[in-house]
Amino acid sequence: MVIRQILTVEEPILRQRAKKVTQFDASLHRLLDDLTETMRDAPGIGIAANQVGIPLQVAVIELEEKVTELINPQIVRSSGEVIDWEGCLSIPGFVAEVKRHATVTVKARDRHGKEFRVKGEELFARALQHEIDHLNGILYIDYLESLEELVRVSDRPSEVQEETTAGI
Ligand code: NI
Repeated sequence: MVIRQILTVEEPILRQRAKKVTQFDASLHRLLDDLTETMRDAPGIGIAANQVGIPLQVAVIELEEKVTELINPQIVRSSGEVIDWEGCLSIPGFVAEVKRHATVTVKARDRHGKEFRVKGEELFARALQHEIDHLNGILYIDYLESLEELVRVSDRPSEVQEETTAGI
């Protein structure tokens, strides 16, 4: 496994819609393994393939020691709203309060191409929305009225979870 370089906010590839995966082959499995390794090294709780320069609809989330691999993910149901702190590995050193759905159900494929559904709440719901946004070229700063809403991680209020500020 290879730790890949994480691209930051100014890179145009982060603003492009990633392409659907059609081949569930060894190179996809390598990419998934590298994404997990890169996310852990950062450290973070989620990462999307375009953050390492690969414009494919592939993302990985790891919470409570459970890795969720998402290929061609789509939100099929959402409910509620919650405002909480959020960070991103491509915007290192900052967090902001972002409004998200409280609960989402996502349809995706696994590394072998098999379709599955996963329901997320709390931080997992936030991570799912954040990664699917990445694959559509959207960053959480797009939801802010002003970049002045960004808070330096070093100045963050004490209620901000460390996991969140690690980056998604
Ligand atoms: Ni991110």
